[in-house]
Amino acid sequence: MNKDFLTYDWNSFNNLSISEKVELFNHGKKPYHGLMAQQFNRAYLDEIYHLTNVIRAISKSKQGSLFLQSLLPHKKAMLYFMQPSTRTYLSFRTACQILGIQTSDVRDSSISSEVKGESSEDTLRTFSSYFDYIIMRHPEEGMAERAAWVLEHSDRTVPVLNAGSGKDQHPTQGLLDIYTLRRSFENHGGLKDKTIILAGDLLRGRTVRSLAQLLTHFEGIKLILSSPEKFRMKEDVIKILEDSNTEYVVTDKFKEHLPEADAIYMTRVQDEHDSGGEKSERSLPDFSLTVDDLSNLKEHVAILHPLPRRDELDPGIDNDPRAKYWRQERNGMWSRAALIILIADKQQEVLDYWHQITRQVNHTAKALPRN
Ligand code: NCD
Repeated sequence: MNKDFLTYDWNSFNNLSISEKVELFNHGKKPYHGLMAQQFNRAYLDEIYHLTNVIRAISKSKQGSLFLQSLLPHKKAMLYFMQPSTRTYLSFRTACQILGIQTSDVRDSSISSEVKGESSEDTLRTFSSYFDYIIMRHPEEGMAERAAWVLEHSDRTVPVLNAGSGKDQHPTQGLLDIYTLRRSFENHGGLKDKTIILAGDLLRGRTVRSLAQLLTHFEGIKLILSSPEKFRMKEDVIKILEDSNTEYVVTDKFKEHLPEADAIYMTRVQDEHDSGGEKSERSLPDFSLTVDDLSNLKEHVAILHPLPRRDELDPGIDNDPRAKYWRQERNGMWSRAALIILIADKQQEVLDYWHQITRQVNHTAKALPRN
């Protein structure tokens, strides 16, 4: 039970401003839950970036993997996925395995007691009886926040990580996207001052909504928000871009902007969110990237896609060195492991281990005879 939460019933909590919620979800200092992109400031993004690189490097050796697995073997995670998922589910699960965390999952509401009429609140409290982390994907937008609120009112509060909430947010995808962009520009001046196209269904694409918010922490970014008019980025995110003085352009021209892009982030039509009987088209040919477009792109452009793709991203591009989406997918595992380490407060142990082994390597290298 957390006294800071106890003063709010659900309605008053839900009506708090984003910054007040962030303060609560961060337990006043750093993310305790991982629910929304706004929780991650630049310092935290830098920490995740560094830690992701370190975890990735440590895990390359058997000894390093065993060290990582020794960090959290006393913890258990519930993967509660009420919407389809391949990558997010698997990458969270492997991230847990990397850190020695045991996992269980509920991926189908028809096998949970919710079919007997149990409320989602009771279901979540039940998870917290057995598990130390709840990683959840849910079609309802506020459900992950609600889960955190419920558990903060219970006698077993555990961190809730949002693995996708309706058409609102996908903060951990945003973290891995930022990581991928930063890696892609490592030898090209970093993410600062880059022009990034976000293309496709920006209205209902939760990945682009979270990513756009995280990008506001980088200096000199220019966003080209490219979508058909009916799939434009919503006002709430636009306001965040404006409040942070992030340069942006809203356009229904995609191809025209390709030559100026340093990164292109493609998305598919999120037609599972069609409502009111309308049926969106399954693809948007004017917002698709094809092999023919490659000659119009910068030499070092980074092409990203959260996947799954339909025909907005031609598989013929896959072997072009500028295609980063398969690496992006793999980065999800490392970034999510880094986030869990930070939430579990184990980062110092990881960094100490890393310094110790790099010191040993440097020492051995110096001791080697030069010829
Ligand atoms: C995305 C999602 O679920 O929002 N997928 C993912 O997590 N990598 C994007 C999508 O489904 O289009």
